[in-house]
Amino acid sequence: MHAKRIAGEKATDFVESGMVVGLGTGTTVYWTIKRLGEMIKKDNFHIKVICTSIETEVLASKFGLDITSFGEVNSIDLTIDGADEINQNLHIIKGGGGALFREKIVASSSKFNITVVDESKSVSVLGKFPLPVEVLSFGWEVTSKKINDLGTVSVRREGLNGKPFITDNGNYILDCHFGEINDPRFLHKNLKMITGVIETGLFFDTTNIALIGNPSGSVKVIS
Ligand code: A5P
Repeated sequence: MHAKRIAGEKATDFVESGMVVGLGTGTTVYWTIKRLGEMIKKDNFHIKVICTSIETEVLASKFGLDITSFGEVNSIDLTIDGADEINQNLHIIKGGGGALFREKIVASSSKFNITVVDESKSVSVLGKFPLPVEVLSFGWEVTSKKINDLGTVSVRREGLNGKPFITDNGNYILDCHFGEINDPRFLHKNLKMITGVIETGLFFDTTNIALIGNPSGSVKVIS
């Protein structure tokens, strides 16, 4: 079976009726959302979900999930989200889909976080995947230069028709190759000190467990 599907569906074993569930963005969490849509059709199984992107809101709505917001609930019980790279320390690069800012707000507000990936995302050292950094569109050119001073050549992400990719928050994404990222906290901290940087795709201290799907149908658990 599809490795992303295996991991995405397995995460729903952790979802209990009555929970507020954070939903990430991407093709792995798609399977989580789809399965949750099947689960709520059963009697006495009710959940509310908080979505990390417009894309996920559309999916959640399609599968009949009850969408809520931070204005209505005090906290999130469990969040399930994908990743672009993850290492053994549960340090993660996210933002390949451009949803990193909302994903980080949801992850940091959640009592428990599960990361779902296929085994191609599992790495020993982060950095092969270019680090997405969300920046304000105003003055992005100078922000980009300051980021480059940290040792990268940042590239503004393009969307359709050669136009800049715009996040759900109205910002740009700069994709930054830093080479091997041995100290993600240090890099994250330095990036965040640059005016114009809104958030980085480096996640640490958020994920409690990772479920890594294998095409054979098995799931490796890292915690
Ligand atoms: C969205 O911005 C990302 O953080 C995704 O969670 C990540 O790109 C994983 O996507 P897939 O599950 O589609 O590989």
